[in-house]
Amino acid sequence: MLAVAASLACAPLLAPSYAAAADNPAADKQAFIADLIGKMTLDEKIGQLRLISIGPEMPQPQLIKEIAAGRVGGTFNSVTRADNRPLQEAAANQSRLKIPIFFAYDVVHGHRTVFPISLALASSWDMGVVEKAARISAVEAAADGLDATFAPMVDISRDPRWGRTSEGFGEDPYLVSQCARASVKGFQGSSPANADSVMAFVKHFALYGAVEGGRDYNTVDMSMQRMYQDYLPPYRAALDAGAGGVMIALNSINGQPATSNKWLLRDLLRKEWGFRGVTVSDHGAIDELLRHGVAGNGREAAKLAIEAGVDMSMADSRYLEQLPTLVKSGTVPVKLIDDAVREVLGAKYDMGLFADPFRRIGTKADDPLDVDAESRLHRADAREAARKSMVLLENRNQTLPLEKSGTVAVIGPLADAKIDIMGSWSAAGKARQSVTLLQGMRDAVAGKGEVVYARGANVTDDERVVGYLNFLNWDNPEVVQDKRSPGEMIDEAVRVARKADAIVVAVGETRGMSHEASSRTSLSLPGSQLALLKALKTTGKPLVVVLMNGRPLTVNWEKDNADAMLETWYTGTEGGHAIADVLFGDENPSGKLPLSFPRSIGQIPTYYNQLRIGRPFTPGKAPNYTSQYFEEDSGPLYPFGYGLSYTTFSVSDIRLSAPKLARNGKIMASVTVKNTGERSGETVVQLYVQDVTASVVRPVKELKDFRKVMLAPGESRVIDFPVSEDTLKFYNARLEYVAEPGDFNVQIGLDSASVREARFTLE
Ligand code: NOJ
Repeated sequence: MLAVAASLACAPLLAPSYAAAADNPAADKQAFIADLIGKMTLDEKIGQLRLISIGPEMPQPQLIKEIAAGRVGGTFNSVTRADNRPLQEAAANQSRLKIPIFFAYDVVHGHRTVFPISLALASSWDMGVVEKAARISAVEAAADGLDATFAPMVDISRDPRWGRTSEGFGEDPYLVSQCARASVKGFQGSSPANADSVMAFVKHFALYGAVEGGRDYNTVDMSMQRMYQDYLPPYRAALDAGAGGVMIALNSINGQPATSNKWLLRDLLRKEWGFRGVTVSDHGAIDELLRHGVAGNGREAAKLAIEAGVDMSMADSRYLEQLPTLVKSGTVPVKLIDDAVREVLGAKYDMGLFADPFRRIGTKADDPLDVDAESRLHRADAREAARKSMVLLENRNQTLPLEKSGTVAVIGPLADAKIDIMGSWSAAGKARQSVTLLQGMRDAVAGKGEVVYARGANVTDDERVVGYLNFLNWDNPEVVQDKRSPGEMIDEAVRVARKADAIVVAVGETRGMSHEASSRTSLSLPGSQLALLKALKTTGKPLVVVLMNGRPLTVNWEKDNADAMLETWYTGTEGGHAIADVLFGDENPSGKLPLSFPRSIGQIPTYYNQLRIGRPFTPGKAPNYTSQYFEEDSGPLYPFGYGLSYTTFSVSDIRLSAPKLARNGKIMASVTVKNTGERSGETVVQLYVQDVTASVVRPVKELKDFRKVMLAPGESRVIDFPVSEDTLKFYNARLEYVAEPGDFNVQIGLDSASVREARFTLE
């Protein structure tokens, strides 16, 4: 990492007018910016509010002209130093005021090296892993001349039909907030001005994960209490960790699109939370105000957005076209433009671009000869992150770990899928550099055992779905179908499997199925994948199901019939090696689910921290006239926080240091966790709290703390969780953040469903 940073030594192309900012690091940012704004024409100001995507709509020569004319504030999708340099030269050398532009990109879970998707990183429950993935992503992105990333994505998602579930960190406000913090720390390092840091733009503000029915871009209608209590904390956590930017969500919130939502962007974000940084609309979102039906034309859309507090418009021309006349006619006060420009310039100042516009672009002489060179990857770190991110769902009769000697049949449409294993938003990752499960298994057994392979099925048999998934890549389709019939492929797989001692079968979704605009109406394995599993089961060989997917799936048959099942999500560049590490026991799995798995789509939502109700279903009691669905068992298929290990752990009863908690005081809730098995292993000890009686209905339980601990066989450790008034606070009916006196249940366990419980009283 350090080597990369050192090679980015600042280029001597400093725009002369900004020498002060570079020479005097203590130069007052606000004074510097105020002075600059004073020199800007209205058109130059409006130019700063444009965030342009390089591409067919704006090819490079045209973009250079726009930049030189002072009509661009930043770009995205221009990804190498060589590509970014002429753009920055146009800004820093040719534009009248030589204001640098910034370069952003969707660096969500890796850049050149693809790390596991965010949902997988959250499954590690290891904030060191989350932070390191973001840090390395930043180092690689900065080495490509990028200054900012549209990440982390911290939308709480409780409806797995939503394809973007894969991009976030799950269903729980506390866990997602921890991940948000760790990501921002990783992306920005000690400062977003560092040459090896990128500024984090937290997204999508706000509540995008709560789109009705899990249908992407749909509306959100939500009580203020739920917002404050559950959905807003992760954005706040990212901002408290110093995220310099905010991307505004595409959805509406209680009848007002986020992009025109004054309450959201001015009252909450700026006034209540005190955010000082830049806001950007999402792609084309100002235009979309017309389709939302809150603006009658482009002029109204631009007016609504700037009034609401959208500083930069992404990939639409409304600001450029409309703001000049809106200001000149006195309809929009120039102060609003100045306020937005101040934030854009402030972000660039914080990125260190006024001190040196080329701090991440460097000089041509230092450009990598091959941007995709192997030497630029961080494979070991990606493998380590992936090993920590997998969740062992089943392991009957210790089927896993497998022996490296003998023959393993590696089967399945995702077993050798180089593109899919990267997951969605894999930035500058190259599929040819990713290690598939098949490759990982072959490497692991080399010289000891044998791997035999058959594809067994396509992920989907539905050509309409294939067409949908290939929509953006007709010339280079991601989903390439095996033309044989499902029956032929299954027969071949069964023949291959019969030769083996064990079957490892990789099934799930193509990465495009768990992506933006990829909402599903079913959460079962698509196509003939289940038929493949059933046929393989008839061989009587141990059946190890390896899931690759970006959302919970309704894997009921699989749960009951697989001898072992490992949730791998999408594990990234080194995925195949990491999965093999787990399957062969070189790594003892330690991941825990960051969201609940439903039994069926009809039971959604199944998130664990639901509000209490008057007629709850109680396991073991008659279900009549209780809240449940009568055709199926109740409760999740796999609960939040769940995950097995190759060893076993016990958790003692809870010891409370005192039965009463004084205001401003602290008590300790402690358990002894013991490794009762025969292998070293890590587990996650989870602390939940339930408010027994409160002025408003409170959740059945809420995660408040967790510790990931490594224990040798037979080793015990005492885990102390401090509990204070702060742990017990919530938003009451007046949205005051309070802890009310009375009884609380504290619960500790290794998943959200199996916990020990003790009670104390807040005085
Ligand atoms: C649209 C997506 O919603 C957002 O997450 C992304 O950052 C932008 N496009 C830019 O690519």
